[in-house]
Amino acid sequence: MMVSTLGIVMTLCTLFAGSSLAQIVSVSTSIGVINGKIENITFLGKSSTLHRFLGIPFAEPPVGDLRFKKPVPKAPLRAPLDAFAHNNACMQGHQRQSVTYSEDCLYLNIYAPERKSPVEKLPVMIWIYGGAFARGDSSMYLGDRLSVHGNVILVTLNYRVSIFGFLSTGDSVSPGNYGLWDQQLAIKWVHDNIASFGGDIEKVTIFGQSAGAGSVVYQGLHTGNKGLFQRIIAESGSVTPWWASTDKNLQYAKSIGSNANCNMDTSMTLLSCLRNVQADKLIGLIANSSKEDQLPQYPFLPTIDNDFIMFDPRRVFDLDNQLSRDAVNLFAEFDFLTGVNAGEGVGGLYEMFGVNDMMSFMPNRTDFKNRLVPMLVQVEYGEHVPSVLSKMITIEYTNWTDPDNPLNVRAEYLRMHGDASFNAGMYKTLDTHSTITPTKKTYMYYFDIEPETRLWHGIPWYHKAIHGEELVFVFGYDISYKNQTLSPKKWEMDLSSDIMTLWANFAKTGNPNSPDDIGLHWLPYNTDSQHYLHITRNLTSANVKQRWNIRRAEFWLNLVPAILQPSACSNLKP
Ligand SMILES: *[C@@H]1O[C@H](CO)[C@@H](O)[C@H](O)[C@H]1NC(C)=O
Ligand SMILES: *[C@@H]1O[C@H](CO)[C@@H](O)[C@H](O)[C@H]1NC(C)=O
Ligand SMILES: *[C@@H]1O[C@H](CO)[C@@H](O)[C@H](O)[C@H]1NC(C)=O
Ligand SMILES: *[C@@H]1O[C@H](CO)[C@@H](O)[C@H](O)[C@H]1NC(C)=O
Ligand SMILES: *[C@@H]1O[C@H](CO)[C@@H](O)[C@H](O)[C@H]1NC(C)=O
Ligand SMILES: *[C@@H]1O[C@H](CO)[C@@H](O)[C@H](O)[C@H]1NC(C)=O
Repeated sequence: MMVSTLGIVMTLCTLFAGSSLAQIVSVSTSIGVINGKIENITFLGKSSTLHRFLGIPFAEPPVGDLRFKKPVPKAPLRAPLDAFAHNNACMQGHQRQSVTYSEDCLYLNIYAPERKSPVEKLPVMIWIYGGAFARGDSSMYLGDRLSVHGNVILVTLNYRVSIFGFLSTGDSVSPGNYGLWDQQLAIKWVHDNIASFGGDIEKVTIFGQSAGAGSVVYQGLHTGNKGLFQRIIAESGSVTPWWASTDKNLQYAKSIGSNANCNMDTSMTLLSCLRNVQADKLIGLIANSSKEDQLPQYPFLPTIDNDFIMFDPRRVFDLDNQLSRDAVNLFAEFDFLTGVNAGEGVGGLYEMFGVNDMMSFMPNRTDFKNRLVPMLVQVEYGEHVPSVLSKMITIEYTNWTDPDNPLNVRAEYLRMHGDASFNAGMYKTLDTHSTITPTKKTYMYYFDIEPETRLWHGIPWYHKAIHGEELVFVFGYDISYKNQTLSPKKWEMDLSSDIMTLWANFAKTGNPNSPDDIGLHWLPYNTDSQHYLHITRNLTSANVKQRWNIRRAEFWLNLVPAILQPSACSNLKP
């Protein structure tokens, strides 16, 4: 049966649950009837009615023979589904309390504000979580506030992570990228069904943070996505950073396979063996191998599979081959908004970079030069790079006013990590998008506040917003990480309200300034003006600025690649 012929069935039934009155809404979809709950929400003094549908299956459970395969669309339901609670999160290490993890995890959630009239169509925002492609779950991001405040339909989705999402044998036996295919199948499901929930399929925005930002850019570069969405918001991430792809999935799969005593004669024997290992045992094997330094902490990542990803993600925006050009030409058809936080560099405070205790981290200049810079270079560029690269980075990231002051060494260390792992990739993505796009707009922000209400315990000596700290602002503090209730300060809620308005405006029109004008006049980014919105505690039009951190973006985007060219190496080697 065609989806469109099902039409819209919005029947209101009333159920009596005890003495309280719970209202149910039913919607017909391509998989059958889905029942959601009607809730009255009061947020920032305004009452709204929301239709909430949680735990909708968009794929068959990827278990048994379906493990390590592309997701299979969900077969029609045999009975109406009560979509009243989040379903399982995808199997992963680092599990949160009170969340159930399972391989059977391909569910999405819909938060649909009640419309003024049945013909009104609402813009749609699809959230893709981050977590290094190794963790994360949609049940953490509660959508009540963003959806009613922005008057948008919010969809949150689960996708497979870690080995379940990204195992690859580097050949057709297990090409990898299952997590990206999961995202895409959910996006297709939204395209096929969201009109029945009141959504406008001409106004769909995909947005995500960190690995979720990498994911939305991957989706934007995948030619199979033409027509499925119109806009992209990437918070702190893209596809070019070292953490967003790998070419070592096979090596890591073999490492797990050998610890699981698999027959590794062929990709086929390895795959069928890994398919039969219990899910929690696989997670345990990854954790143990990472502890013993056989594997990096997050080994399983997107990879070139010549199917979802046909280009080298790290160099896709260099446009030096046709596959990159095709992908980037599609990407340029989307409106694009991206940005980073002031404290992205705290991502460098981990063991993989030689920092064993972030709390007491206070490197001296010698240690910075001889150990810490080379470690970053190795993680980012591998073993075979000219030693002059580390020297250049050390010189660039020295505060020459007072170079031996450990506070300055530490501050420059953080700047180096933020630039290398996040900021340079943001500029590469922005520059390419704004240059190539024929008609669409490009927007940049820099999130630079000192939060008072924190989801995570911060680092006592670092006060600015670290990686991920814009999330509570985007979701109106409706995030449940450790089931804690957040009590933001007034300025924080005011800023959150502004950010939700900007994001929802962008979803509606591709322009964060309209239709709900908060008086900012945020100008689009292009390579000449390099405008960005400096997000601080008090947002005014004076926060629209130009050329943030450009010297160091140029350093990573133009000088470092020139040094890494083979001809440059031979000239510079001692
Ligand atoms: C929401 O509020 C309306 C108007 O006050 C009321 O009629 C309705 O019963 C409420 N619905 C729920 C689910 O509480
Ligand atoms: C989470 O918090 C809510 C409200 O404080 C409480 O009712 C609920 O039982 C908690 N859930 C878990 C699993 O701890
Ligand atoms: C991981 O290591 C611990 C401690 O050595 C061991 O008890 C456990 O069985 C290992 N897990 C797996 C899945 O091998
Ligand atoms: C610099 O730090 C390293 C590593 O902590 C330490 O071994 C070395 O002694 C320190 N050097 C000076 C001069 O303090
Ligand atoms: C460089 O060091 C000086 C002296 O310690 C300090 O005042 C200045 O803020 C530092 N510059 C940066 C960019 O951190
Ligand atoms: C922000 O505005 C408030 C009140 O308008 C003012 O007290 C505060 O100093 C301002 N903060 C900054 C960082 O400009």
